[in-house]
Amino acid sequence: MKKTVLVLGSGGREHALAWKLARSPQVGRLMVAPGNDAWGPDYERWPEINLSERESYARLAERARQARVDLAVIGPDNPLADGLADVLISHGVPTFGPSAAAARIEASKAFAKEVMQAAGVPTARFFRADSVSEALSILDRLSKDWGPGWVVKCDGLALGKGVRVCAFPHEARDAVTDLAKNAGASTFVIEERLFGEELSWMALCDGKRAVLLDPARDHKRLGDADTGPNTGGMGAFSPVPGVPAEFAERMKNEVFLPVLRELERRGAEFKGVLYAGLMWNPRSGKFWVLEFNARFGDPEAQVLLTRMEDDLFPWCEAAARCELDTMPEKMRFSRESALIVVGAAAGYPDSPERDQVIACEKMIDPPSLFWGGVRKKSDRYVTAGGRVFGAVGTGASLAEARTRAYARLSTVQFSGMQFRSDIGASSDQPVPIAVLASGRGSNFEAIQTAIEAGALSARIVAVLSDKADAPVLAKARAIGLPALSVVPRKGDRAAHEEAVLAALRPYAPHFLVLAGYMRILSPKLLQAFRSDRGYSRVVNIHPSLLPSFSGAGGYRQAFEHGAQLAGASVHLVDESLDGGPICAQEAFSIADCRTVEEVERRGLVVEHRLYPEALRWILSERFVMDKMDKSSENRRARVRQN
Ligand code: GRF
Repeated sequence: MKKTVLVLGSGGREHALAWKLARSPQVGRLMVAPGNDAWGPDYERWPEINLSERESYARLAERARQARVDLAVIGPDNPLADGLADVLISHGVPTFGPSAAAARIEASKAFAKEVMQAAGVPTARFFRADSVSEALSILDRLSKDWGPGWVVKCDGLALGKGVRVCAFPHEARDAVTDLAKNAGASTFVIEERLFGEELSWMALCDGKRAVLLDPARDHKRLGDADTGPNTGGMGAFSPVPGVPAEFAERMKNEVFLPVLRELERRGAEFKGVLYAGLMWNPRSGKFWVLEFNARFGDPEAQVLLTRMEDDLFPWCEAAARCELDTMPEKMRFSRESALIVVGAAAGYPDSPERDQVIACEKMIDPPSLFWGGVRKKSDRYVTAGGRVFGAVGTGASLAEARTRAYARLSTVQFSGMQFRSDIGASSDQPVPIAVLASGRGSNFEAIQTAIEAGALSARIVAVLSDKADAPVLAKARAIGLPALSVVPRKGDRAAHEEAVLAALRPYAPHFLVLAGYMRILSPKLLQAFRSDRGYSRVVNIHPSLLPSFSGAGGYRQAFEHGAQLAGASVHLVDESLDGGPICAQEAFSIADCRTVEEVERRGLVVEHRLYPEALRWILSERFVMDKMDKSSENRRARVRQN
């Protein structure tokens, strides 16, 4: 007897689920509710179903029972949190998808953190706040020892828009008030910011057992090079190069099984897809779970189901029946790479523009195109949501899959279409840098530490000093880095700079990073690092709030002047003394400092955080320069991260 399957949802992920399940030799009838006009005639549709109407779930379940549905498969997160699986099951409809109690692992960030803690799953340090004022006072406390930043999350579901990554205390405070105002948040999770590589790892679960899919990587931010607001996901690929094979076993034993046990202990057995969003440091092998989702990722599902060689139906049925022990130990995936790039409507994620006519060579074409925010109007397809479609490419390598995905994307057009052009691109190649320093090298150490922690995608190729006995050189040598000294002869700046360039040449640095390098660079040296955007790839940190107190001894000058505030500035270098365009600054109070040493101690703590943080976007050249005065050169410009 062939089976009847009902897929619930209407987005790209549900298109992929319906497509994959319809290919199962065991499935005779496949229905979709509400489905999507663009999915074609292969599926029987219940178009009038509205999954955001909780009151209609009982009617829907009754209809599914009468249609003798053998398995309902729920795609999106909101209906799961609202208890659709519970209602279907109570009407006798076998369902693949967790109960509302288990789906809380996604719907409440605070609950997820509690579960992780109880299950011993590695996760970031966090605080829970049950009101805006509590959140603000926690941030106040944290601002004294801020570290690389904190992430502010609102507790409920927010379509990927409830998370703010904050580098500075003021950003975090703004995030709290903004999430309260615009997302109605009243409970917050404030979580330590982590760095590394993100991975999306999903497992089919039957309450007790977990069978892992292959890992994938998604791209959450709207713009290229991870800029702009968070979205539901603008693209994804799988497999993820560099993830060691044995990692899956660790994930299973250290994440999925302990969480399933903890949920079961709390009476919330998880049946369905459990999705762990991870941060992973490939160098140390450490990982942390950032969040859990209670369903397939969108758009990760589209690439994973494209690569899945097994029949999906028996897997979902076994999970729903709590019988994963009757299935093979592993799911089979093709060795090919798959990559999806999403085409989104103008205005996404805030207010996507609707009703734009879609021009496309061939609408119904999975697994090349999966349709989401689309509907039919008269006889044309028009945009009807944020993420309109996803174009998938497959190939022997990620690069090949990428080329094909972008070729497919170009076959679809509509006015205002947004897409990222760097999905799966190796934009994260470490930038080769040379550090130039004259003294103790604590900033050099801070940069190296950030690199090792995966917080800064750079590689120090050489450390160069104008003093042969500078402690920074010994520090570089101690960790096996080339330590070069090029000592100037009095009055011969040109010859010295030529020698510097010659010494650096074999290491081919892309950027020069100055950290206490006590020399002014001449146009000749700067020219060697000139970018075609008009600045030189040379950056410096100066111990004052520029343009105040340029020159030597910035902290001393501030202290002796009786200033209330001191600060540090990161700036691009030009031929003037500490005068190039300012990139990042941070002030701190010195009103209570009694000695200049005290000021300096405070300053170095700020510098060691500020410099690596600013280098993250400066080195990848993700910035724009606003000229402050048209007639001037770049000097009077403000550099803004974009
Ligand atoms: C720092 O204060 C930096 O701002 C200035 O020189 C000092 C270098 O310190 N340009 P270190 O050598 O990095 O410890």
